[in-house]
Amino acid sequence: MLKIKNLLSADDLKKEDLLEIINLAEDIIKSPDNFSNLCNGKILGTLFFEPSTRTRLSFEAAMNRLGGKVIGFSDANVSSSQKGESLKDTINTVSQYADIIAMRHPHEGAAILASESADCPIINAGDGGHQHPTQTLTDILTIHLYKKRFTNMTIGICGDLKYGRTVHSLLKVMSLFDGNNYVLISPDELRLPDYVKKQVLDTHNMKYVEVQNLDEQIQNLDILYMTRIQKERFFSMSKYTRLKDSYILDNEKLSNAKEDLAILHPLPRVNEISVEVDNDPRALYFKQVKCGMYVRMALILKLLEANND
Ligand code: NCD
Repeated sequence: MLKIKNLLSADDLKKEDLLEIINLAEDIIKSPDNFSNLCNGKILGTLFFEPSTRTRLSFEAAMNRLGGKVIGFSDANVSSSQKGESLKDTINTVSQYADIIAMRHPHEGAAILASESADCPIINAGDGGHQHPTQTLTDILTIHLYKKRFTNMTIGICGDLKYGRTVHSLLKVMSLFDGNNYVLISPDELRLPDYVKKQVLDTHNMKYVEVQNLDEQIQNLDILYMTRIQKERFFSMSKYTRLKDSYILDNEKLSNAKEDLAILHPLPRVNEISVEVDNDPRALYFKQVKCGMYVRMALILKLLEANND
């Protein structure tokens, strides 16, 4: 049984809880039919105050595959927040209808605030540039399925390390495992924030280097986690335009990479991975999407169980 009642941040995930969720997701992958009725009569609320296709549909598919039902909205403009309703009141209302809520919000800390007024478990599906813990569960499940381990790897993380919330959550969860080297690849302006370096990398003695050049590092990597430059978080569009094509992974760059490199990307992709790479067996990002659905099935089951206690 999980010790947590909500999933608000990657900080919430202790190793035991994490492995419990990953093990269940792997059981679901092996025999999905055994899980297809477990949420009969349950309702998931998906409250997306910020646009999302993948994550919202992933949650909806997960609940449907568990036999449950889904209510919610995919755009803040169609919710009463347009009329001035507070987040607290929206959450309080929806938690009277739903058994569990997945929410995305542009403001950092919104999920934590929501959990204080909700009558049901809350899952943070992304809060501003802060955290995205269910993407991290997705990433971790993919790593475990394809690399069979969480340790002794050189992990490259490339792109927008400043605003990329998936990167912040992934590093936090990887801090639970020893023996990895991290290569943080970004333009100078988009380096990992100091608070993440201090609170995560330094606190857990994680070995890392910060570099700007992907080509010089690619041959050392076991995992390459590519990310999108987060256009919506830039104040200056000219800065975004200058940085947006900083890294483009293509077949030529990959010719120097290890044969068993795992290429991950939380998606959506813009230009940072050329489509020619999609046919390379090392490209796992669409398999990762499927892992996301299975791990969300596992998370929903585990949180409902923990809240029934
Ligand atoms: C990520 C996000 O929303 O932070 N996408 C996702 O949830 N799959 C990454 C991104 O938007 O670049």
